[in-house]
Amino acid sequence: MDKLACLDAMGIDVWVRREQPSLPAKAIIEIVNEESAGATTTEEADPVVAINPSKQNDVGALDWEQLEQRVLACTLCELHKTRTQAVFGVGNKDADWMIIGEAPGAEEDRHGEPFVGRAGQLLNAMLEAVGLKREEVFIANVLKCRPPNNRDPRAEEVASCEPYLKRQIELVQPKIILCVGRIAAQNLLKTDMPIGRMRGRKHVYEPLNIPVIVTYHPAYLLRSPTEKRKSWQDLLLARSLMESAG
Ligand code: URA
Repeated sequence: MDKLACLDAMGIDVWVRREQPSLPAKAIIEIVNEESAGATTTEEADPVVAINPSKQNDVGALDWEQLEQRVLACTLCELHKTRTQAVFGVGNKDADWMIIGEAPGAEEDRHGEPFVGRAGQLLNAMLEAVGLKREEVFIANVLKCRPPNNRDPRAEEVASCEPYLKRQIELVQPKIILCVGRIAAQNLLKTDMPIGRMRGRKHVYEPLNIPVIVTYHPAYLLRSPTEKRKSWQDLLLARSLMESAG
C-alpha cells in the first residue's frame, strides 16, 4: 500500500491541490494541528488503574520460551477463569518498535493473538502509514487475558500482569514504544494524566529509559474518526524520533 492509500485506510482525508490533479505524489496532506490539552474524550473519562508494585510475580530471568509458557499457564488473577486462552504477544522479537495495547478482546481471546479484530485492522493501517509492517513490530498488551465484556482492567489484574510486560520490553529492547489508548499509557507511564495531554509528545519508560509515544486506541478511533488526524501526528512524531535516534 502506498502512503496515500494508507492514509485513506486510516480514514484520513487527503486534499490534493486543484491545479495539480495529475500529480498524486505531490498531494498536499493537510493535518490540522489541533491543541490536544484539555480535550475531553471517552478515553479520558475513567480513573487511572494503579499498579500495585508489591505483587510478586518474578519473571525477570525468564527467556522468551519460558516467559510465554508462564503467561499461557498463568492463574494469578481471576481472568484465567473466563479466558479462552492467554494472549502472549506477537511479532518481531528484535523489533525497533513495540506497540502496547490494553487487553485482548473477544477475537483476540479466540485467536490467541493481539489486535486481530477491527481495531487490529486499523492498527495495521496506522503502522503501514509510517512504513511499518505488522510483522516488523512487536505487539503486546498490558493484560494478557480478556476482561469479561471488555470491561476496564482492575488494579490487581494489571499488577499481576505487569512483570510479564516489563520482561517482554526487556527482551525486545525496542528503540521506541507506541502506547495505544489511555489504559496502556497510564499504566506504562504510571500516571493518571488524560490521554489528550499525554499524546503529542515524548515520554520515557523509566525502568529501561525507552522513549514512549502515546496515541489514541484504534477502537476509539473507529468510534471517533475525526481524532485520526491527531493519531497520524503522533505516528509522525514517533517516526521522526526513530529517525533522529538513527
Ligand atoms: N484492544 C487492545 O488493546 N488489545 C488487543 O489485543 C485488542 C484490542
